[in-house]
Amino acid sequence: MNLVLGLFLVIINENVSRKEALYMTNSRSSWPQAMVAWDQARVHAFRKDLLAWYDKNKRDLPWRKSQDPYAIWVSEIMLQQTQVATVIPYYQRFMAALPTVADLAQAPEETLLNLWQGLGYYSRVRNMQAAAQQVMADFGGRMPDQVDSLLSLKGIGPYTAAAIASMAFGRVAPALDGNLFRIVARLFRLKDDIALPKSRKVFMEILDILIDPDRPGDFNQAMMDLGACVMTPSNPRPDNHPLAAYDASYQVGDSDQYPVKSKKVKQTRHDLTAYFVLDSQGNWLLRRHGEAELLTGLWHFPMLEQSMVYEEVTAAELTEPLLDWLREEALVEGDSPLSSQVVSPALGQVKHVFSHRIWQVQLVGLRLDTSGPLQEGWCWVAPEDVGQLPLSTLQEKLMQVLVHEKEAIR
Ligand code: ADE
Repeated sequence: MNLVLGLFLVIINENVSRKEALYMTNSRSSWPQAMVAWDQARVHAFRKDLLAWYDKNKRDLPWRKSQDPYAIWVSEIMLQQTQVATVIPYYQRFMAALPTVADLAQAPEETLLNLWQGLGYYSRVRNMQAAAQQVMADFGGRMPDQVDSLLSLKGIGPYTAAAIASMAFGRVAPALDGNLFRIVARLFRLKDDIALPKSRKVFMEILDILIDPDRPGDFNQAMMDLGACVMTPSNPRPDNHPLAAYDASYQVGDSDQYPVKSKKVKQTRHDLTAYFVLDSQGNWLLRRHGEAELLTGLWHFPMLEQSMVYEEVTAAELTEPLLDWLREEALVEGDSPLSSQVVSPALGQVKHVFSHRIWQVQLVGLRLDTSGPLQEGWCWVAPEDVGQLPLSTLQEKLMQVLVHEKEAIR
């Protein structure tokens, strides 16, 4: 008899989703303090209202037409730090060029960088390729379908793992991003500082109860759409709030206080000179950024970190640091004589913002009397061929300056 009962319990346990299992252990008395005013019926009603709103209002996005975990992964990585509207054409181009994880694993670096050009944060696509190679080597070419195994892939953190697992495989995993932090903080008037790693647990405990076990992927995307289109950072009192009845801060009228987020570390400012160097045939000198640099693998005008008063600097002061660098690293015959002529010490300025630093780049124009062979990582390129190389957004901005300064560089 005991054996039969044991077997029965095992079968039941195997058939309950993680969420339902949570209910079994999560009697209301052990729910998070923030949910004291909620009961099971309210949770059900909340899900129903949220998903009804989503079914009517969801955005028509290309990756939502696919259940392919690879396609969802690509979209999720692109959507980190980049707006939905910007991502759509990049996503379509990327999927057309590299439609499977095997294609991504084998793609040449130049192809990857070209496909990513303009999205920024290039380490995202490099990590994605490393992870695709892991999928080929360790998972037989199939994307893993569990949060834990997805987390073992390079560049996939808790948010992305949960997004892929829920949307592609129906796993009951809340994908806690900025939108979900904001919505949950407002719903429950949570004062936990979302900049602190320990706050994540507080939000996840609540989301583990709220998430719909039958439609976890839709639940996550409904919350994202709600956060992006209705409960936005700048609109604490939306007229068309589908969850107003559940939103404690909306009822009190202090939604603008949530989420609580302490300021992050300050960005540091760096001054650089970018040298626009022409040879006697009008070719441009470019350099590929190395492993240890920001914007690795992308081609730029040579740039040096230095601050100068460009209105007062002499031609020698301006050019010597560059010429020394070229002698040391760029020219094949390091000691060949070099002479240069400054065309313009102040073509223009470009500001480029990274997550932790700001580059203030001054573009100066020079002519050089050599067009000899160069070391690996340097090249002379005809202006009409520059577009063939993978370029960063910063380089694009520097080239925009040239468009406006055509006269100065004749
Ligand atoms: N932002 C990140 N992932 C998203 C998704 N799947 N849909 C809409 N916005 C998102």
